[in-house]
Amino acid sequence: MDKINFFPDNLNVQNQKIILRLDLNVPLKDKIIIDDTRINLCLPFIERLIKKKAKIIILSHLGRPKGIKDPTLSLSPIYKYLKNKLKTNVYFFMGNFDDEIKTKFSYLKEGEVILVENIRYFKEETDNDENFSKKLASLGDIYINDAFSCSHRKQSSIHKITKFIKKSFAGPLLKKEIDAINLVIKNKKEPVTCIIGGSKISTKINVITSLIKKINNLIIVGAMANNFFIYKNIKVGKSLVEDNTNNIIEKIYDEAKKNNCQIIIPEDCVVGTKFDGNGKNKNLEQIEENDIILDIGFNTVKKIRQIIDQSNTILWNGPAGYFENKHFLFGTMSIAESISKNTSKNTLISVLGGGDTLAAINKSKNKLSFTHLSTAGGAFLEYLEGKDLPGLSVLK
Ligand code: 3PG
Repeated sequence: MDKINFFPDNLNVQNQKIILRLDLNVPLKDKIIIDDTRINLCLPFIERLIKKKAKIIILSHLGRPKGIKDPTLSLSPIYKYLKNKLKTNVYFFMGNFDDEIKTKFSYLKEGEVILVENIRYFKEETDNDENFSKKLASLGDIYINDAFSCSHRKQSSIHKITKFIKKSFAGPLLKKEIDAINLVIKNKKEPVTCIIGGSKISTKINVITSLIKKINNLIIVGAMANNFFIYKNIKVGKSLVEDNTNNIIEKIYDEAKKNNCQIIIPEDCVVGTKFDGNGKNKNLEQIEENDIILDIGFNTVKKIRQIIDQSNTILWNGPAGYFENKHFLFGTMSIAESISKNTSKNTLISVLGGGDTLAAINKSKNKLSFTHLSTAGGAFLEYLEGKDLPGLSVLK
């Protein structure tokens, strides 16, 4: 297999314009950064490039604005954060990518930084548009992808940009992520348990069916589990569900049977009637019309803890409930604490991934320990699946 071209630390980049693709997709509430983990992880490399006197042009997306300039998805809070943290001039570019784009960045001096506004404000980004990628590439001399968590996306600033720029590299954070995940894949010990949360099963079906072949237990939590309840004719009230997932779920059960993988779904849950209210533990048959399932219940937590205690490897992506409200954080936190306890005793190899999972874990008052915490969600799962990620294959 071809090797990824990693950024050589001894490369002289003085006065070179570096296009640095980062994942600054952090959770925001009313323009306040709720969890800064992803940004903080990027800082040492930006600081190193500043020291090396490069001119740094940062690209990132925030959320999924679908080509619309949605002000709630502006990178402006992240710009303010960077300006505050970095000891250099930091600018914010909010303009368009027209034919003069190249000259618009000419004021940038050695060791200075420009953050470009949410790259997904441009539809061409998600279309992996040829012309747009060319314009992006024209901004710099060197391209560095340090966003492992976005490398499963075939989008301009991750993929096609590399076609139009002479030198493309993977950054140190990306390297750290894949080194750690590779190490876990190589050393994984059975029983292997995978815990998958989040809401959309249709986007994770391929990953799930492929993982089933390699693991012993698959635990489904979060809103995704609601689709399994529907499949089993259990009423879910006003809970979040995806349409037409019965076939997908049937396929999952078929594959699980063939591969001797146990599927575990919640047996009770915590419901509320609104997202910012209180919760009540209910058995599945007690769910009423106005209820919204917002966390896994006590019995489910107990069962998951037992499985974690019996496992030797855990892969976890996606919170178990609506962790943003403390009344629905218990499930996610119990899973995190149980994984951490077993990891500290050296009886468990644990890899956790996803922006939401990180944000939830950061709410813990205790110091938790895991073998590897990945900033990536979808990319982490696809990499585990053994897929060649588009953003990585162009760096080989
Ligand atoms: C993530 O949060 O997993 C990454 O930022 C990728 O975001 P996306 O799923 O919107 O491409």
